[in-house]
Amino acid sequence: MQLSLLDVPNPEDAARIRVDELRRLLEQHNRLYYVLDSPEISDAEYDALFRELQRLEDQYPGLISLDTPTHRVGGSALDKFSSVTHRLPMLSLENATNDVEIREFDLRVKKYLGLPQEELIPYLCEPKMDGLAVELVYTDGLLSVASTRGDGITGEDVTENIRTIRSLPLRLSGGRIPRLLEVRGEVFLSLDAFRRINSEKEENGEAPFVNPRNAAAGSLRQLDPRITARRPLSVYCYAPGAADGADFPSQQEFFAAIAGWGLPVNPLVRPVAGIEAAVAFYEEMQQQRESLPYEIDGTVIKVDSFVIQRELGEKSRSPRWAVACKFPPRQAVTLVEDILHSVGRTGVITPVALLRPVEISGVTVSRATLHNWDEIALKDIRIGDTVVVERAGDVIPAVVRVLTEKRSGTEQPSLPPEHCPQCGSEVVRIADEVAVRCMGLACPPQFRESIMHFASRNAMDIEGLGEKFIEQLLSLGLVSSVADLYFLSRDDLMKFERMGEKLASNLLAAIENSKQRDLGRFIFALGIRHVGERTAKSLALAFGSLENLERATLEELVSIRDIGATVAQSIRTFFDNQGNIAVIRRMLEAGVTPAVEQKKIGGRFTGKCFVFTGALSRFTRDEARILVENEGGNAVGSVSKKTDYVVAGEDAGSKLAKARELGVTVLSEEDFLELLGREE
Ligand code: IVH
Repeated sequence: MQLSLLDVPNPEDAARIRVDELRRLLEQHNRLYYVLDSPEISDAEYDALFRELQRLEDQYPGLISLDTPTHRVGGSALDKFSSVTHRLPMLSLENATNDVEIREFDLRVKKYLGLPQEELIPYLCEPKMDGLAVELVYTDGLLSVASTRGDGITGEDVTENIRTIRSLPLRLSGGRIPRLLEVRGEVFLSLDAFRRINSEKEENGEAPFVNPRNAAAGSLRQLDPRITARRPLSVYCYAPGAADGADFPSQQEFFAAIAGWGLPVNPLVRPVAGIEAAVAFYEEMQQQRESLPYEIDGTVIKVDSFVIQRELGEKSRSPRWAVACKFPPRQAVTLVEDILHSVGRTGVITPVALLRPVEISGVTVSRATLHNWDEIALKDIRIGDTVVVERAGDVIPAVVRVLTEKRSGTEQPSLPPEHCPQCGSEVVRIADEVAVRCMGLACPPQFRESIMHFASRNAMDIEGLGEKFIEQLLSLGLVSSVADLYFLSRDDLMKFERMGEKLASNLLAAIENSKQRDLGRFIFALGIRHVGERTAKSLALAFGSLENLERATLEELVSIRDIGATVAQSIRTFFDNQGNIAVIRRMLEAGVTPAVEQKKIGGRFTGKCFVFTGALSRFTRDEARILVENEGGNAVGSVSKKTDYVVAGEDAGSKLAKARELGVTVLSEEDFLELLGREE
């Protein structure tokens, strides 16, 4: 018998099949991790798939393609960006700054269309992301070009940088992929990522970014994509450009289609009927603004139907069918009354502007960080200057610029100190750093800051242990490391000023309670350089115990997603320090038991997947997620075949439709509470 050639498996063909499968799996798990926030495999399993793909591609370079996840981070830095001309111009939006102007927009739309005033136009309401507009071009489903808006006609080619955004598919998935799909969206940085980048910058003695938008812009316009890859940019898509092979009847259906192809869409977008509901959305978002994990600077209202959009057309620079409803600015003008020097946890001395108190969107601001003396010199900030101050998220306000035209000539420059303002030690300026540091090991403010950090809400959450008590602990010499907190007695506390029996026992109880915090919080509380909340959580998940983390090698550390060489080195340095180990041992002796947070097994919702949509009135979305997780379930952002329940509030839109289409059980808020056993 003769063997046909077809019967002999060609190793390259076998590899091709496996490579395709690995790419599909990696993209699917990227989406579960970065978009839906509900990973189904561990980092180690993800890495194993990734390495298998890398090995096959090394072996068969012919199999490398544009959509391979191993090439998200391009090789070398560019000299400059090349330019891209948009097929259709990228327009901008007209602004409304209050509800009156929003209603005027609605009236203009109806007047233009010749509709009666009482007509309820179907609108699509969206958060207005405070980032940068980009255009993504998918050719035959493959991300081929990504560009910035530029002047609206021509932008810069930032394809390599956009490819580093993990939540963005390199290849569209699902059915009926158009031959050409241009999608516009906004690239942004989450507040978490922004804080982490800035604290790293500050610790490295570099000039930090003023706000997340500037940080996103700086990251997107990086000529070296390897730097961009370390900045976890995100994107939400919000409008179509040119398309061939797809026709969307409305904004709502556009969102449903692109979400189906795997593109990220903001889960807060909401279809409404009539302008009053759109005004309500604007007001609701203004409330929610403070608790969102990213910055928004308003909402956008769009006429939902694309047929009506076309009928309305556009003016020279903006369409008649949409309006940007801006929130009040988070900037204000005030006076720099003095510049103080503040010593931080790591000894960095930061200049702080004492401002004439001014209100910015409901908060009185009286201080602003000036970051470092290079920044002061760059912006030429002097004592007595009139300045523009900006508050971004809950981040410490920053001085944006000086109004030099307001100078009288009496303004005084501020110079870096030669000695630590707190302990008198000599101050050093490390080569290549802009920061000046106090190297005094016994510098009290450094220690005070590290205890404050340890006790803070997102770390060990020791309620009541604030600045005043910490100050007294130090001045009474009661603590010389954070471990000493766990050996304080009632008698010790009673030595404090204004301390009563009740307060002392509350404080002791709070310290006792903190012994049970989970491992992620404990790692964060240790104050390891470069280890923020998110990194601490990843470390806890990856290593499972403090002992494992203490023993982790650099190699093991960098193999964890989002941990690079600098962070890994910093963790190793921390645990190689015997003094740090001794403090940790003492805490463990005192009964601190940092455990890995376990999902409840055997809860009512074990293994069940929930999606919450629409306006919820009985609980917030965060509360809902916690309720589900406490019962062992998962709450995710989008509806798929794996969804078990969709809980729909008022005005639920595309997700509800998708749930019905897929036959997923739909619950009202009351049904959900009943299922939870909460309804009386
Ligand atoms: S729609 C034809 N939707 O706001 C205009 N823009 O002020 C299409 N932006 O340049 C824009 N979030 O950079 C739209 N949900 C959203 C948005 C949004 C942020 C930005 C975008 C645009 C600017 C207009």
